[in-house]
Amino acid sequence: MKNILDDQASYPAPGQLSAMEQRAREVAHELNNLAAILSGHIEFIFFERKLSLELEKELKTIRSLSQNLASLARQLLHPDNSPPKAKKVLTELSPLVQESLQIVSPQLKRVGIKLWVIHHQPTVSLLLDPDQISQVLLNLYLNAQQAMAKTARKVLSIETGQEAGFALVKVSDTGCGIPIENQARIFSPFFTTKAQQSAEAAGGILGGSGLGLAMAKRIIEDHGGSIKVSSQPGEGTTFTIFLPLNAVSAHDNGCCPEDDLPPLSTSTKTFRLQGRRILIIDDEPSIRQIIKKALKLQGAEVDAVGAGSDGLRMIRKKNYDLILLDLKLQDMPGEGLLEMINSTLPESARPRKIVMSGAAADSNQGLLSSLGVSAILCKPFELEELYTTISATLRA
Ligand SMILES: Nc1ncnc2c1ncn2[C@@H]1O[C@H](COP(=O)(O)OP(=O)(O)O)[C@@H](O)[C@H]1O
Ligand SMILES: [Mg+2]
Repeated sequence: MKNILDDQASYPAPGQLSAMEQRAREVAHELNNLAAILSGHIEFIFFERKLSLELEKELKTIRSLSQNLASLARQLLHPDNSPPKAKKVLTELSPLVQESLQIVSPQLKRVGIKLWVIHHQPTVSLLLDPDQISQVLLNLYLNAQQAMAKTARKVLSIETGQEAGFALVKVSDTGCGIPIENQARIFSPFFTTKAQQSAEAAGGILGGSGLGLAMAKRIIEDHGGSIKVSSQPGEGTTFTIFLPLNAVSAHDNGCCPEDDLPPLSTSTKTFRLQGRRILIIDDEPSIRQIIKKALKLQGAEVDAVGAGSDGLRMIRKKNYDLILLDLKLQDMPGEGLLEMINSTLPESARPRKIVMSGAAADSNQGLLSSLGVSAILCKPFELEELYTTISATLRA
């Protein structure tokens, strides 16, 4: 079995790990593999056999246990950062893509790959972790390079653009393509077709950890986006990354609306919430308290309530610039509350809205953006992330 430490992009060099950590990772790797094999067998039984209801129930329990096992193993595989926490800052997308291309362009040139880059829209700024997104892009370029190792046409095309509330980056190659039966599996951890290849066959770079796309998917989903593949075996492959424009501040061609915010009073922080009226709606008192304290520190005028109905009452009474809303309230779903806010206030009087959620995957991003939500904060978040998200949202 391959050593997980082969994937230099995702893991520290072996020298940076203690022998015990290294062993733990190896064991975790084996565990994850076993869990994957177990899941494979279970899926196979589901697929092949007609099961009695009772057996089906039993098997579903086993499947869920094996998923837990895989998830534990993955946490062990990422002990420092499980899952790595995104440090999201307002970042211009096209320059980020350009920078990542600069890293690989000499090596692409060397192996005869032509590079095409098209930026369809003027630049857009998104709330994202530039390091993580670069890591995703580099993985896609590397896969593309490896896929074109033996093809006569070698073109890597990168496009950035926007579509239906999403910024997108398309990475297309003229490589070997992905057989239909593999297309659903490539995002699974440890799925690789490169394990048996020599470095030469893999395009001069040893690959085969099968973690690149799994990591890409996790990072993109952690940003509230998605990654899709379309591939024609023998013709080439396109990966498209969608990142929500709504967790964003659309860049207004260099105009910096920071100017109309009151000047910073005490600290040298760039987050200026002086005079901003913010309402927190969260049924967890300790969370309410800490966020309130944090925002007051930045000069905001903050109210905090625990119930959706109280929130609605406050919104009718007072003009807020921003509402920070927990999606899972005890008296009503956050989505329902957002609908009520929208129907209570005319569009021009509606506050900006940021949703706080247990996990990005828990929330229906499309629905939330149609309800006017500007950004989603995944709990637990760091204060800096809270400040950056609020600043970006208020500036948008
Ligand atoms: N651009 C591509 N063209 C063809 N196959 C690809 C491409 N990208 C990924 N794949 C397939 O998906 C598999 C998983 O990719 P990845 O998760 O990056 O792991 P690895 O590159 O280590 O194999 C690859 O082994 C390959 O079979
Ligand atoms: Mg790869």
